[in-house]
Amino acid sequence: MCGIVGYIGENQAAPILLDGLSKLEYRGYDSAGIAIFNSGKINVAKAKGRLSVLDEKTSGGKSVPGTMGIGHTRWATHGEPSDENAHPHVSKSGRFAVVHNGIIENYISLKKRLEEKGFEFISETDTEVIAHLFEYYYKGDIMEAMIKVINRVEGSYALGVLCSDYPDQFIAVRKASPMIVGLGENENFVASDVTAILKHTREIYYLEDNEIVVLKKDGVKVYNMDREEVQKERFTVDWDVSAAEKGGYEHFMMKEMEEQPKALRDTISPRIKDGKIVLDDITLTTEDIKNINKIYIVACGSAYHVGVVGKYVIEKMCRIPVEVQVASEFRYCDPIISKNDLVIVISQSGETADTLAALKEAKNHGARILSIVNVVGSAIANASDDVIYTWAGPEIAVATTKAYSTQLAVIYLISAYMAEKLGMLTSGEYAKFISEIEALPDKVAEILKHKEDIQYLASKFYNCHSIFFIGRNLDYAVSLEGSLKLKEISYIHSEAYAAGELKHGTISLIEDGTLVIALATGQELFDKTVSNVKEVKARGAVVMGVTTESHENMEDVADHVVKIPETHEMLLPSLSVVPLQLFGYYVASNKGCDIDKPRNLAKSVTVE
Ligand code: AGP
Repeated sequence: MCGIVGYIGENQAAPILLDGLSKLEYRGYDSAGIAIFNSGKINVAKAKGRLSVLDEKTSGGKSVPGTMGIGHTRWATHGEPSDENAHPHVSKSGRFAVVHNGIIENYISLKKRLEEKGFEFISETDTEVIAHLFEYYYKGDIMEAMIKVINRVEGSYALGVLCSDYPDQFIAVRKASPMIVGLGENENFVASDVTAILKHTREIYYLEDNEIVVLKKDGVKVYNMDREEVQKERFTVDWDVSAAEKGGYEHFMMKEMEEQPKALRDTISPRIKDGKIVLDDITLTTEDIKNINKIYIVACGSAYHVGVVGKYVIEKMCRIPVEVQVASEFRYCDPIISKNDLVIVISQSGETADTLAALKEAKNHGARILSIVNVVGSAIANASDDVIYTWAGPEIAVATTKAYSTQLAVIYLISAYMAEKLGMLTSGEYAKFISEIEALPDKVAEILKHKEDIQYLASKFYNCHSIFFIGRNLDYAVSLEGSLKLKEISYIHSEAYAAGELKHGTISLIEDGTLVIALATGQELFDKTVSNVKEVKARGAVVMGVTTESHENMEDVADHVVKIPETHEMLLPSLSVVPLQLFGYYVASNKGCDIDKPRNLAKSVTVE
């Protein structure tokens, strides 16, 4: 949600900002704007709608000359999408221009105070308060004004600030909203994430909360709130530019689904050495594992669905009780957590507001936090005791695929790691499990090779009004993800149901021609799910069964059958999810939907 890019250097800023913002489109937005410093003045251009509108309005940036500027894509929170509400926001005298990602929680009281002092507001946003606050506190020293503003506002923010009194620098800060600093040759950047600046540099600083960065053409300095300089560690991003480009694919989502074998390999291989799972990234000792009383898994959306798989797998393999909770519920449920509980937090972006708040809630209760995160240096990673990174690379499509798959892989690694330490696996079982994890990338690649079969099925069903996904245990967990994938990108109503629960109410929705996608991959519950398939068939449903190669009798009951390779029972979700991702994609494609940027959705949900 919301994207920020800032630039200072020798080149024209506006085209660089527009290009950078285009790389942040995936975050979700409904208006965009830029502010460029030129000859002692700040010029602003902004427009409601797609970035192309702003691009046209500024002739690709040519109408706003200057070599320093800030840009923003806005996802409306306070006030509708409009030119007035778009960022940057400018202070009363025009001296300051501000872009902001996050939410200023006390903006109403601040706005009232500022209005009493004669400040007039043009927009309905919380951000305009910040522009006026800068003006109010500014006595000729921008750093002093920045510190005063930060001390005054409550909430989350990544801010980029231009001041017309400073022709050779701009400043930025972040708290609980993402912002990185890009270090170039005679040019420097800030951005909401690396993809926006990857074309220009791979050298970056990660900022801690309330570190203030001063960017000049030939150097960057970072300060703490006491105005002391902070020595930052430089990181080199090893993604290449193509990682954030479509590379010939029509959609990022397809590219990212195809990248799953590599992402899985990159996540799994470095963590298996000499036939053992090695989690160098974490400090959890065998003693710590033995002392775990209970595990909570907390996350949102697809990451939560990974948690649902995690519950079944960890409980089965480690016999430790696991509770999975949606982060937006967990944060307000006054959870009963003790210091011997482990809280596993899962997030691709590492910046989801509810997940971060849930993490902080758990920390306040004294729990140890282990997070599974894709974005290095993100807020959730920084706030955790231990982090295991998923090496999925940048994920641009709003609908997650490769991040989900790699999160699942990490859950498997953690489960087997703990089970081994707890003595729950024989050496033979452990070795078998590891070799099956290592085989997952090739098996996923095998499924992807036959994607045309799923494309064909999608072409038959893309006109459905409602689709049901059913399964038991792990199959149910994957059904949740299959259903979410379908509805978020194709806008078809869909529900995932525990197969045995259907007859307790929901089966009344099944009528002639209703599509039911039935997952029956595991051995133990296969016959049970087949019985449920018969129940829906008897009521007119058309059934697409998803099962493994050895289950031949699925053909007897289902109208269409999708087969996945065999693997360890616990690992089946890694394979069964792939046809469901493809199905969602092809249905959405048949319907002509905006697959990478579905309506109303943002990639990173940084507001509550
Ligand atoms: C899934 O396709 C969605 N994009 C969404 O449910 C996502 O998984 C959720 O918002 C959590 O995001 P995170 O992993 O970045 O925390």
